[in-house]
Amino acid sequence: MNELGWIDLRSDTVTHPTLEMREAMLRAEVGDDVYHDDVTTNELERYAAEILGKEAALFVPSGTMGNQIGVLVHTQRGQEIVLGSAAHIFVHEVGGAAVLAGVSMKTINFADDIPEPAKIAAAIRPDDIHQPDTGLICMENALSNGRVVPLSIMAEVAELAARHNLPVHLDGARIFNAAVHLGVNVKAISQYADTVNVCLSKGLCAPVGSIFAGPAHLIASARKWRKLLGGGMRQTGFLAAPGLLALQDMPGRLHEDHANAQYLAEQLSGLEAVNVKEDRLDINMVFFTIDREEELLLQLPELLAAQGILSNEREDGEWRWVTHKDIERSDLDLAVQKLADILG
Ligand SMILES: Cc1ncc(COP(=O)(O)O)c(C=O)c1O
Repeated sequence: MNELGWIDLRSDTVTHPTLEMREAMLRAEVGDDVYHDDVTTNELERYAAEILGKEAALFVPSGTMGNQIGVLVHTQRGQEIVLGSAAHIFVHEVGGAAVLAGVSMKTINFADDIPEPAKIAAAIRPDDIHQPDTGLICMENALSNGRVVPLSIMAEVAELAARHNLPVHLDGARIFNAAVHLGVNVKAISQYADTVNVCLSKGLCAPVGSIFAGPAHLIASARKWRKLLGGGMRQTGFLAAPGLLALQDMPGRLHEDHANAQYLAEQLSGLEAVNVKEDRLDINMVFFTIDREEELLLQLPELLAAQGILSNEREDGEWRWVTHKDIERSDLDLAVQKLADILG
């Protein structure tokens, strides 16, 4: 439960910063980051690059900007990028890749959204005057459907990209959740991409921001794109200080969110009308359907909110409840109890 008394299961983006983060914000040494003067941001970027195994990193205001900069630094206007049809870059970034980078998006329907290297290879354009050039392959890990992509598949995609001389961008918004599931450090995942976006403000609980990491020359280019997009900020140390704690202190507790998601799935499975997607329980998300009349399901978020529980509407017929730092097991018990009461 958060300090306002809500059991907020809509996303891990709703997490409030820890007390340590708030104190670090107060004490942060700051400067004008457009002049590279903000030592706290410089330290965040250095540390992030180190743990991600990249030459350099850039603090950006959001994961969306991190991904869009990824597309911008790798592509030329008129090119095509290859990505899964459920990719955040395609579905949830307002079509930005087309608007900002001027690229088209070749989307592929993968089984369970797990990349299929053969389908990616088939999507790469031949050298043909009638066709756009393929400019980039994008991956996501963890996936937004609650699964983690195995490292062997990421390796295959990286190899095929290298064979075609194509760069790879990884949307690693939840790369730390993927790392916990795989039992590896984040470098073991980011090694399969040239550039990576990592969100600080999801399960890691920082109030704002993402990291865009990659080779030094691309980070220099990213810095300029960030300025063009209006993301050149000034005393960013106030945000970088909690961001640094997010990277240093918070990954160590993500296994609790994963265990709580398993617990929530078990409790929900006990309800007759609920069908939990048991095969998509790798991280901190539980997906389920509810077998009840449409009228009740349409009212469900409102009925739950009246009981202090926040849930998003269904997406593609599925409910998604997300565990995070501000959710205890007792909150999950209460949420499942209230859902059971409503469903009758
Ligand atoms: C997989 C994935 N990528 C990128 C983002 C974008 O992050 P932001 O909301 O900070 O723009 C999200 C946000 O939920 C996400 O789930």
